[in-house]
Amino acid sequence: MITARNVKKIYTMGRVEVPALNGVSLEIETGEFVGIMGSSGSGKSTLLHMLGLLDDPTEGAITIGGEDVLAFSDSEKTRYRLQRFGFIFQDYALVPELSALENVILPAIARGIHLHDAAAAGRDYLDRVGLVERQDHLPAELSGGEQQRVAIARALVNNPDILFADEPCANLDSTTVPTSTARTRGRCSNSSAGSTRS
Ligand SMILES: Nc1ncnc2c1ncn2[C@@H]1O[C@H](COP(=O)(O)OP(=O)(O)O)[C@@H](O)[C@H]1O
Ligand SMILES: [Mg+2]
Repeated sequence: MITARNVKKIYTMGRVEVPALNGVSLEIETGEFVGIMGSSGSGKSTLLHMLGLLDDPTEGAITIGGEDVLAFSDSEKTRYRLQRFGFIFQDYALVPELSALENVILPAIARGIHLHDAAAAGRDYLDRVGLVERQDHLPAELSGGEQQRVAIARALVNNPDILFADEPCANLDSTTVPTSTARTRGRCSNSSAGSTRS
């Protein structure tokens, strides 16, 4: 279970303070598939970054499985993210110099999976998003929707307990969206997932 209590985030840009989250509390049970809706700029990505331990809230508490995850050191957070989370970022965040397959297997390699096994898993996930034939292509050689599908494969490659998806269907067409959603939902039937949509 993921809990957030009164989570606030204020970004400070010089003398300008941007309140991005103003006291969010929520509970997400194991196995739940949760969508977060709100207008552009309402703080959906910020909330996912807080719950995903990518940034610290200004105030508030977050627990995962009863653990006070905000008390972890930076290296503990990194290890926790690698072992438990998958992320589909709103801007995909693919590494431009790496091929589709290399991008997909990056989290597996970082986790210490042998290259041979990581590549096999990576090809399997690329196949599931219909892109195995494009495995050697660089992100710049792929369309926005194809890059998004590579990002989905990368988020799933470590078989994460928790999947954070930030507008994961924004660049997919209407035939791809239902299969991708079914795939991420199916993946998450035994775990928690957060997804944002504006
Ligand atoms: N790194 C940042 N520095 C300063 N302001 C930010 C930063 N990230 C987001 N914001 C601001 O916080 C607010 C919420 O942004 P965001 O979480 O990206 O919204 P959403 O994902 O719902 O569109 C916006 O006003 C945005 O400009
Ligand atoms: Mg956003």
